[in-house]
Amino acid sequence: MKNIYKNGQIVEGVITGIQPYGAFVSIDENTTGLIHISEISDDFVRDIRQYVAQGEQIIAKIIDVSDGPNQLRLSLKALNYSSRKIREDKEHKRSLVPESVLGFKSLDVKMPQWVAKKERPMVNVNLKHALLENDVMSYQDEVTRIHEMIHNKTGKGNDFLGWLDWADRYDKDEFDRIKVCAKRIREQADVLLVCGIGGSYLGARAAIEMIQGPYAQDDLEIIYIGNTFSSTSIVRILNYIKDKEVACNVISKSGTTTETALAFRLIREFMENKYGVDEASKRIYATTDAKNGLLKPLADQKGYETFVIPDDIGGRFSVITPVGLLPIAAAGIDIDAMMRGVKDATFELNNASLEANPAYVYAVVRRMMEAQGKDVEMFVSYESHLVFLAEWWKQLFGESEGKEGKGLLPASVNFSTDLHSMGQFVQDGKKVLFETVVLVDNPIEDAEVPFVDGDIDQLNYLSGKSLNWINQKAFEGTLEAHEVTGNVPNVILNIEKADAYNFGYLVYFFFKSLAMSVYMLDVNPFDQPGVEVYKKNMFKLLGKK
Ligand code: PA5
Repeated sequence: MKNIYKNGQIVEGVITGIQPYGAFVSIDENTTGLIHISEISDDFVRDIRQYVAQGEQIIAKIIDVSDGPNQLRLSLKALNYSSRKIREDKEHKRSLVPESVLGFKSLDVKMPQWVAKKERPMVNVNLKHALLENDVMSYQDEVTRIHEMIHNKTGKGNDFLGWLDWADRYDKDEFDRIKVCAKRIREQADVLLVCGIGGSYLGARAAIEMIQGPYAQDDLEIIYIGNTFSSTSIVRILNYIKDKEVACNVISKSGTTTETALAFRLIREFMENKYGVDEASKRIYATTDAKNGLLKPLADQKGYETFVIPDDIGGRFSVITPVGLLPIAAAGIDIDAMMRGVKDATFELNNASLEANPAYVYAVVRRMMEAQGKDVEMFVSYESHLVFLAEWWKQLFGESEGKEGKGLLPASVNFSTDLHSMGQFVQDGKKVLFETVVLVDNPIEDAEVPFVDGDIDQLNYLSGKSLNWINQKAFEGTLEAHEVTGNVPNVILNIEKADAYNFGYLVYFFFKSLAMSVYMLDVNPFDQPGVEVYKKNMFKLLGKK
């Protein structure tokens, strides 16, 4: 199509999407423009949304047409009569939130029109198979109220909201030190022992397994210890590492968690015997509280390199802090990319509008499922290397909302493996659950099915097809079986790839969904009083004073 637009021309358009780097503008049916952040105002622009709002009608000047009619470069500041200033007025604030409550159908119609037009969201929430009986958009007022509560830090447990803007304020020197130590660990060791439990190890394991994939060809083997009392497991690990070069990252905020402290005592003994006290202390890295607890004084006394677990970030949110970052970096994963994912999610998901914020859509749908009689949310993946992402997710949601007799029970399966076991219940069992399927669009690996003469195993009908294509068909067939035949709702979350950036984005997506979803239950999302009960009984039996 001929480009009818010219440099210098003034055009009218509507803001259809806002990204950290610019605002997308729809000019006519075939023409889209981008106002780069540097073209918004003569003032320093930190957050574009303080200047323009999604859905706003604007006038802009074309500054470059060379990329064709779909990608005009536009400027607001070049219109010298309309240079933008930060808009704090109520009118503008109101415009950030849709004024009218849109019907359910409008979500399908408007989402692509207003949001997906620019780019697909990093986490795409597909509700076509969710069997919803009501309108997601009818929750907008409640979502807006809770969004304000989260961001103004006025809700229950608000002193544990440190994750909310962590991407903007984490300690860059410590971050650099993590990268240096990760490199050192890779030089020192064949095996890194990650010694921690619950929030102090699940996030790192979820990331490493998701991003590296199974049987990764990496020089450093990671072994998770300190997460069980199983004598067999602990002794077998100690036997396995006997003749290997070892480093250890012990991770415990309190230092008193018995599973972790006990395993660490054994590891310390083993390493001090193997290397001597001095060399052992150069191979042990402690991630713990800045001042309190039992691990910090031990680490100081021994001279371990230490990293800080922030006070305002709970264990299940700590994967984006040194708790997750040191083991993830030691595994050779790009933590800069991961934190970019966290940062972009922080920006993009700081939006009260259900039309623009997929994390809040997912949060609302969880509550709607409960209202439709579901007690169980089943996390489904079709990749075995997402099994620990599911374990991490279970802790995040289970520990956050399983309180006061409330909450969905988070469960998980890995398909197609578990279609041969749990599949029966999902298809035909009691209708207590809905599925949340996390799909990765592009697999880490793929291969074609070969043609075999004689076709003795009768698989030649698949020859030339890719393994991932077959996995997709398994998903599509299962979706229909569960949704249509089994009447089991399916919420589908798509991410593009299993890489560091997407991992960072996805965990923040879940943090934000979780905060919204749990506040909708009027429960404190950030404490975990119930986990102390078993400890009290166990300590009594162990004779702890
Ligand atoms: O989320 C949580 O708070 C727990 O899972 C803790 O992370 C876990 O119990 C480990 O605690 P600590 O880091 O004090 O050893």
